[in-house]
Amino acid sequence: MAMSKELESSFNDQITLEFASSYAYLQMAAFCEEANLPGFAHWMRQQAEEERAHAMKFLDFVLDRGNHVQLGEIAAPAGDFTTPLSVFQASLAHEQHVTAAIHALYGQAQEEKDYESLPLLHWFIDEQVEEEATVSELVEQLQMAGDNGAALLLLDRELGRREDGAD
Ligand SMILES: [Fe+2]
Ligand SMILES: [Fe+2]
Repeated sequence: MAMSKELESSFNDQITLEFASSYAYLQMAAFCEEANLPGFAHWMRQQAEEERAHAMKFLDFVLDRGNHVQLGEIAAPAGDFTTPLSVFQASLAHEQHVTAAIHALYGQAQEEKDYESLPLLHWFIDEQVEEEATVSELVEQLQMAGDNGAALLLLDRELGRREDGAD
């Protein structure tokens, strides 16, 4: 059964937000590349892929429900980073914003008794817990590293080993 027009509109907003996330991470990847931190850049590129996969998951769901997909506008992402720490702090703030949007979507689906949406949204709620935890940890590690170039390079190596990015 198709979802209501109101819920459809919120799902479309979420598709756009996930694509905007992908776009934002690509900007962050470029900054890291420019800062000669290929490992960080690699991690951010993977993250951009993952956000694209999230957008597609929502998009396919809207289509599967027999609803209409309408992609929205994406504004230019923030690019005024100064340090790797500022990049990951921006990432954390962004993830918290996405979490709030998914919680609102879940609330709306629940209110409309749109039970079919709940398992998918539940998956995303769990995913956001994981994403916020990962990014928080990196923010804290970057704070520990401070201006220590050796610590930063070590972290760069580690992030360069990330292999996922498609789920
Ligand atoms: Fe996402
Ligand atoms: Fe995310």
